[in-house]
Amino acid sequence: MRLAIIGGTGVYDPEILKDVRQETIDTRYGAVTLQVGSYAGREVAFLPRHGAKHSVPPHRINYRANIWALKSFGVERIIATSAVGSMNLDMKPGDFVLLDQFIDFTTGRETTFFDGDEQGVVHTDFTEPYCPEVRQSLGEAARELGITLHRRGCYVCTEGPRFETPAEIKAFRLLGGDLVGMTNVPEVTLAREAGICYATVALVTNFAAGISPEPLTHEEVVEVMQQNMENIRELIMRALEILPAERNCRCGHAMNHS
Ligand code: HPA
Repeated sequence: MRLAIIGGTGVYDPEILKDVRQETIDTRYGAVTLQVGSYAGREVAFLPRHGAKHSVPPHRINYRANIWALKSFGVERIIATSAVGSMNLDMKPGDFVLLDQFIDFTTGRETTFFDGDEQGVVHTDFTEPYCPEVRQSLGEAARELGITLHRRGCYVCTEGPRFETPAEIKAFRLLGGDLVGMTNVPEVTLAREAGICYATVALVTNFAAGISPEPLTHEEVVEVMQQNMENIRELIMRALEILPAERNCRCGHAMNHS
């Protein structure tokens, strides 16, 4: 089975992989270059979400091409990293969170592979948006490594690229959001449509606007990610080692509607 790591802000290198080669995959949505190597006896593709030099902003990421390319390459499980702001005072900068729910506030993205016509009309179940089995392995890895990780967290996805206003953060908190970011949707939904298991390990880089006493900057987000890089790497490495060989979740069957 092939796996993939989608690296978010601050995670641009497939450092943990051996014998890395590049593979460019053409999809109907555009070409995607994967860096492919091996770890723990498995073939792993690495994809930096914002491009190798962080040049693609959240609202311009070609999410459909990325997920389609991983699907064509035979990937069955994705571990994604994500920098997030926190609006839950228990989830502090430097803490990891395994997302378990999301609320979508994006406004201008291509969110589905099923656009009608020949692709058909498809309504996908999202009762459990993130793969329970991959989340379980990440949680277990954090426990073994002694890394602070919250097992649940509700992610609010904004369109970006601007940060939020304090009024928006106040509203998102009232709605039940714990964390805010700009990229998890539609990545997570497209993965499910493609039948790929998907889990995000989010790292809190800052308290969200209006909770943080200072104005927010991208530099601070990158800095906190870099300070925690060793933990991110170890967490993913251990999770890759302990993931069960076979999938026992329902992610791969989500599209079996008929
Ligand atoms: N808001 C949106 N996205 C983010 C934040 C934030 O506060 N921190 C890191 N990514």
